[in-house]
Amino acid sequence: MPIHLVTLLLLAIALPAHAQNHVDECRVARLAAKPAARDAAGRLGAPPSSLTLAEIEHTAACMAAALDRSFAAVGDAAIRRVRAWAPMSTSYKASEHGTFLRVYANPQAAASYARYEEGPRMPQGAMVIKRSFRVEADGRARPHRIYIMEKMGSGYEPGINDWRFAAYEPNGALVGETGGRDNSRVRFCAECHAAAREQDFLIFVLPKFRITSVGQ
Ligand code: HEC
Repeated sequence: MPIHLVTLLLLAIALPAHAQNHVDECRVARLAAKPAARDAAGRLGAPPSSLTLAEIEHTAACMAAALDRSFAAVGDAAIRRVRAWAPMSTSYKASEHGTFLRVYANPQAAASYARYEEGPRMPQGAMVIKRSFRVEADGRARPHRIYIMEKMGSGYEPGINDWRFAAYEPNGALVGETGGRDNSRVRFCAECHAAAREQDFLIFVLPKFRITSVGQ
């Protein structure tokens, strides 16, 4: 077995994800140990299309500090406190390969959001956030975009129930926001969410990933 594979195997054994703090050290051991993750030229293959539930939870726990740094980098006082908000889902796999998400709601949104399709229209100040991380073919996890829906004051954007959609890169850079900078880059958010217009533009995770009581 080539030396670098031995090293990878040893690393995977010696560094279980729960013992790691830094983002660069969060790896899914099974993928890190898999030689096929790199081709002969050393290039990475496609990101994994699935992880086990245990692997997702394990990696999400390892990524917590790095994700907190991303929230802080956005530079918004509310978003800095996301991890104190109510989690509205377990960690789940996005339709995009290699991306794993979790939904959080702020105190103004949580009780309504937890009622899902039965919930009332959200009040001004409600915020729902999806945070995400990606896992590469070699098992390495890194923070990915932060997706935000914030209910603004009446008249902000009446066509979409005054929601502000915004996305941020994990380093805090704004991708775009409704009614603000690079508006055109988030128009597709509202277009897709408009399918749930009668649910106040909220689409909701699949029932099996939902958390229905605030304060868990
Ligand atoms: C192609 C459709 C589609 C697009 C485009 C899209 N979303 Fe979503 N969004 C979803 C789906 C489906 C969910 C339900 C949760 C899931 O499956 O991840 C969701 C959930 C959310 C949630 C959690 C609140 C809820 O609706 O339950 C937020 C916040 C969110 N999206 C923000 C955004 C932002 C910001 C953008 C643009 C940068 C965006 N979305 C673009 C489909 C979309």
